[in-house]
Amino acid sequence: MSAPQILILGPPGAGKGTQSANIADEYGVDHITTGDALRSNKDMDISDMDTEYDTPRAYMEAGDLVPDEVVNAIVDEALSQADGFVLDGYPRNSDQAEELEDMTDLDVILSLSVSREELIDRLTGRRVCDECGTNYHVEFDQPEEEGVCDDCGGDLIQRDDDNRDSVENRLDVFEENTQPVIDHYSDESSFVEIDGEQAPDGVWDDIQSAIDAEVEN
Ligand code: AP5
Repeated sequence: MSAPQILILGPPGAGKGTQSANIADEYGVDHITTGDALRSNKDMDISDMDTEYDTPRAYMEAGDLVPDEVVNAIVDEALSQADGFVLDGYPRNSDQAEELEDMTDLDVILSLSVSREELIDRLTGRRVCDECGTNYHVEFDQPEEEGVCDDCGGDLIQRDDDNRDSVENRLDVFEENTQPVIDHYSDESSFVEIDGEQAPDGVWDDIQSAIDAEVEN
């Protein structure tokens, strides 16, 4: 079978980025993440798109969705170059889900579920390497040396949108816009719900079992 085409869904902080890195390593697919793509282009000029703000930055720092037109173009371009992928951070509303249907097929749809209280703890305690992007957590996943990435020695920083106010807004935006998309996908035969509240290794075991079962079918 050709390289799998995997969609990973879940609220902010559910572990999509953490587990997508495992999937990309294990199955040799591209990790396509709208969050990272937008963070690398926060100050891109989008003023010609008739949007409320002239760059993605203001939307992201508040925890609001960046306009569909910007995000759809990023995903379309990335998917056209991928031979197998794990797609993380998209679609986040019904219009994006319709766009995705026109762009590609999906072999496996994973949905990570985690309680709101746990998500707030994870996001406000997350630290990210500013060189290689590896995730850490001040309590659940500490580096060997405080503030320094184990993998590359880069500085660990807090994302601009991981403060309490932005986190609360991101979770509200998820409930309103993205949860209906997940409900829609839950009728598909390739949809698998994963208990994302387990320790990372337990979540990874369940994800591997789900992908292997779907890909063998
Ligand atoms: P994005 O970067 O996609 O952020 P998000 O969806 O809010 O997701 P996160 O990256 O915060 O969480 P995650 O699920 O990847 O969790 P992680 O593995 O890091 O988007 C950012 C912004 O970009 C959006 O707000 C929006 O403005 C814009 N945007 C992006 N896509 C868009 C789109 N399609 N349309 C419009 N706008 C868009 O884990 C979190 C923490 O928990 C880490 O510290 C980790 O170490 C820890 N952790 C992970 N798993 C576990 C575990 N099992 N147990 C304990 N701790 C764990």
